[in-house]
Amino acid sequence: MIREMTPDDLDQVMEIEKEAFHEHWKREDFEYEISKNEFSNMKVYEKDGQVLGMVGYYILFDDAQITTLAVSHQARRHGIAYELMSYVIEQCDRQKCSVLSLEVRKSNEAAIHLYKKCGFYEMNIRKGYYEDGEDALFMMKALGGNI
Ligand SMILES: CC(C)(COP(=O)(O)OP(=O)(O)OC[C@H]1O[C@@H](n2cnc3c(N)ncnc32)[C@H](O)[C@@H]1OP(=O)(O)O)[C@@H](O)C(=O)NCCC(=O)NCCS
Repeated sequence: MIREMTPDDLDQVMEIEKEAFHEHWKREDFEYEISKNEFSNMKVYEKDGQVLGMVGYYILFDDAQITTLAVSHQARRHGIAYELMSYVIEQCDRQKCSVLSLEVRKSNEAAIHLYKKCGFYEMNIRKGYYEDGEDALFMMKALGGNI
């Protein structure tokens, strides 16, 4: 089940976050995203009462951006990220967004494969985008918008 992230999820969310990312968000970052940032949407994938994955995205007028995506290590390769991405794409389509974009580390082959499977294209490289100096791939998917 995909549902809204709540403060009660944050212990489990932080576990996934820490195992998934080198430069990870802090608990306060998630608190801000779920309670204060009006542009932010934070969702979790829950199964049998356990949070197994999460996704965050902003919608600013007709422009949408993925802010985070991670799946618990033990739950990977079961289609959870694909389900989360399909959900986000559907929500953005419903809200008449024209474009959905994201940045991903150039070395993150698993995520790049996933995004290509979801219909994203590589647009350009953002040199030294991450704190450790790694480049980001900027990827985009065109949506229906108001057409
Ligand atoms: C990237 C990530 C979210 C994928 O989650 P997942 O639930 O295992 O992915 P899915 O099972 O839904 O896989 C969907 C597709 O993604 C691609 N994929 C996922 N893991 C992959 C891997 N290890 N190697 C290659 N392709 C992979 C495949 O195209 C796969 O489709 P397929 O099963 O038909 O081959 C997960 O590995 C993760 O949390 N990584 C750490 C955090 C991260 O990198 N987030 C993205 C930040 S931009």
